[in-house]
Amino acid sequence: MTVDLDWENLGFGYLKLPERYISYYKNGEWDNGQMTQDATLHISESSPALHYGQQAFEGLKAYRTKAGDIQLFRPDQNAERLQKTADRLLMPQVPTEKFIEACKAVVKANAEYVPPYGTGATLYLRPLLIGVGDSISVKPAEEYIFTVFAMPVGNYFKGGLTPTNFIVAEDFDRAAPYGTGAAKVGGNYAASLLPGDKAHIAGFSDVIYLDPATHTKIEEVGSANFFGISRDNEFVTPLSPSILPSVTKYSLLYLAEERLGLKAVEGDVPIADLDRFTEAGACGTAAVISPIGGIQFKDRLHVFYSETEVGPITRRLYDELVGIQFGDIVAPKGWITKVE
Ligand code: PLP
Ligand code: COI
Repeated sequence: MTVDLDWENLGFGYLKLPERYISYYKNGEWDNGQMTQDATLHISESSPALHYGQQAFEGLKAYRTKAGDIQLFRPDQNAERLQKTADRLLMPQVPTEKFIEACKAVVKANAEYVPPYGTGATLYLRPLLIGVGDSISVKPAEEYIFTVFAMPVGNYFKGGLTPTNFIVAEDFDRAAPYGTGAAKVGGNYAASLLPGDKAHIAGFSDVIYLDPATHTKIEEVGSANFFGISRDNEFVTPLSPSILPSVTKYSLLYLAEERLGLKAVEGDVPIADLDRFTEAGACGTAAVISPIGGIQFKDRLHVFYSETEVGPITRRLYDELVGIQFGDIVAPKGWITKVE
């Protein structure tokens, strides 16, 4: 049974659901965690998460299958990335099993908000790890909160599978060469707010960042990774220590090669070399696969396949990925975790 929502027109926005998971880390260990209906965090005004950005988050989705079951897509990968982010910010790791059990518990407790199969909508899960407690000097917190909440979502970028245009940030970086670009920390997103706002005002979906050291190679989008399809049928995506290692991107690298017969390449993507691509897209949990119609760089809009229609290879990649996520296509081993 599901609640009555306009599932087809959800967009990507917050909705306060009845239940969420919360666990506290004190005296060097995590408690067992519990479900709560309290959607407000009660934390010290001096919490390191608030002052020094000692926090991290994740994003993954629950999908309702045709048979009505609910499943998660590669939650172990999100757990591992959160552990790496935690290491970078000197926060305690959340064990993979605890992470997955928390996600499952939140989905189960809010099961009527998992969108019906066929609407395209999903339940977005937002795990969050924050340093809390009384501490005002610049050092790691002694106490932490790990919480997971959820909301049903539709498209992140307005177009869905209709291409939209993106703009290269010339005067901004989201991360530094040896900074926290590969960690999923709020600071990276804080840095992207102003360029993102300027891009939206100018009519673009989001910003494409260049490598912070030389400003010659594509890094990623503010909220997703980048890929291009080359003229000789390669799936190409940037390799850089300052981009977020996207679970979707690594899934597509595998599917491109194993299921679509493309050559999959992680490497440099010079911004001067866009002509080599016939199609391009942004990929991520929220973005899924969002085709890029054109990229504005300096005073030129470089159009790929079309500004209005998704290219054929991007479409096939989308169908394969989404088919797996919703349970219509057999998944590679270990990619699907059943909730109920
Ligand atoms: N890059 C950035 C900056 C993101 O915020 C996201 C979203 O999580 C991604 C890439 C895509 O990562 P994933 O596919 O793991 O969701
Ligand atoms: C995700 O795709 O899960 C993200 O975290 C992107 C976010 C900017 C909404």
